[in-house]
Amino acid sequence: MKKSLFGVIAISLTLFGCSDQPGPTPTKQAGDPAAGKIIAERDCKACHGLDGKGVAPAIPNLAAQREAYLYNSLKEYKDGQRSHAALKNMATNMSEADLRNVAAYFASLPPIASAASGDIKHSSPYEKGKILAAACTNCHGEDGNSTIPGTPTLAGQQPHYLVAAIQEYHQGDRAKDAMRSILRDADSADLESIALYFASQKPVKRGAPAHGDPAAGEPATAVCGGCHGANGVSVDAATPSLAGQDAQYLEKAIKAYRTTRKNWGMQRYVAGLSDKDIENIAAYYASQTPKAADQVPTSTQELAAKCDRCHNQPASPTMAAPKMKGQDKDYLVMALRAYRDGKRESSTMHTMSFPYSNAIIDSLASWYASQPAN
Ligand code: HEC
Ligand code: HEC
Ligand code: HEC
Ligand code: HEC
Repeated sequence: MKKSLFGVIAISLTLFGCSDQPGPTPTKQAGDPAAGKIIAERDCKACHGLDGKGVAPAIPNLAAQREAYLYNSLKEYKDGQRSHAALKNMATNMSEADLRNVAAYFASLPPIASAASGDIKHSSPYEKGKILAAACTNCHGEDGNSTIPGTPTLAGQQPHYLVAAIQEYHQGDRAKDAMRSILRDADSADLESIALYFASQKPVKRGAPAHGDPAAGEPATAVCGGCHGANGVSVDAATPSLAGQDAQYLEKAIKAYRTTRKNWGMQRYVAGLSDKDIENIAAYYASQTPKAADQVPTSTQELAAKCDRCHNQPASPTMAAPKMKGQDKDYLVMALRAYRDGKRESSTMHTMSFPYSNAIIDSLASWYASQPAN
């Protein structure tokens, strides 16, 4: 993946303008809600309620959902594009008219009153990360700009790389007892939140390094730029930026690929370097001007605004995007992970959700679930 987080989102937004959606098959004749109610009473009530409210977590609310979307979903279960054994069974045994009628019934119901909304705590991964990061700032600096030789700056580092690096300490793959003990009780959403916080901070330029010769180091970095970017500013979310990093840390990290750190590309490229070369390369990168990873979303509302381009629009024959406000939180989490991981078909939603960590998905889902249904 050579795209930054926001690159992917930006591209997905330009490629998939809402009106270009391969829309739902327009309902040829309107369904009959009264006939649909009979089916709902017999087959759907146990899980979706007669009022269209999912009876348990992870069962979606259907009340006031768009009729065309409901009909489409049922067709997808029937045709096997969405996998859920019970729904496939039911949908297969229903006639075309039954599908239309039951979709019309649930669409005609009033939205679920949002009495429970207040119960859903919506967490911002950025705010959570900021709180957790307090345990790191003694060493890594207030905003992730380290001033202690040997301790790396985390500010503006590429987010996927940071998650991976933090996980390596968490799991003990990279030995550093101080960090291992701090991170011991963190779960993966915590780790992602910390990474998001640091990735969003602004890195600052350093003074001249104490050792090494930047000018002598520069030619040796020609082979590094293909992955680490021009002057060490990486544009790939999984490859670390080196510009403005602490020189002593850089030296140690490069040498570690000869021994403990495993990465096929890195091991190959550093194998032939002498200690003197490494010192000069470190001095070169340390003295470059750093630049933060492309803007990382810091508020859930900021992200949701992008989703609302499709999901919070008036119904139209070409708009297949379902309503999400007031939807069951667990269901939304499950649906988003399924798109991201390629387990539910929709190229648009796969592109949208691809860059999102579980922490971001969780915050988006809790935000939508806590909004009054419309
Ligand atoms: C055994 C419990 C159960 C029953 C009975 C049931 N459903 Fe569902 N329904 C679910 C679950 C769970 C999901 C989420 C499945 C998934 O992730 O694809 C779902 C999803 C749906 C969806 C997709 C909603 C969305 O937002 O994408 C529709 C539409 C739906 N059901 C309609 C019906 C209708 C109509 C009936 C009766 C004919 C029915 N269901 C009966 C459990 C049930
Ligand atoms: C006691 C000081 C100390 C504390 C506290 C600390 N770190 Fe570190 N951290 C270091 C040092 C020193 C290194 C370099 C270790 C090495 O050479 O492998 C490092 C390395 C890292 C790296 C690797 C950076 C890279 O570019 O690969 C990450 C990520 C990191 N720390 C995250 C954290 C997080 C998150 C916390 C708080 C939960 C934390 N650290 C707390 C001292 C500390
Ligand atoms: C083929 C792509 C590629 C090339 C070429 C490459 N690197 Fe890397 N480099 C990576 C990746 C990917 C990582 C992260 C690996 C990991 O997770 O340990 C990395 C990690 C590093 C790190 C650790 C950064 C940190 O924050 O801990 C340093 C330092 C580094 N590279 C220096 C160099 C230098 C110097 C060169 C040129 C001599 C170079 N790299 C060439 C892909 C590359
Ligand atoms: C370009 C339009 C578009 C954008 C932008 C978009 N979506 Fe979607 N979304 C869709 C369409 C179309 C579907 C229906 C796909 C299907 O049939 O599975 C969908 C389905 C979904 C579903 C499944 C809901 C259900 O009831 O099963 C969720 C959850 C979802 N989107 C979340 C999001 C989030 C969160 C964002 C923002 C990060 C987003 N979407 C941005 C078009 C979009």
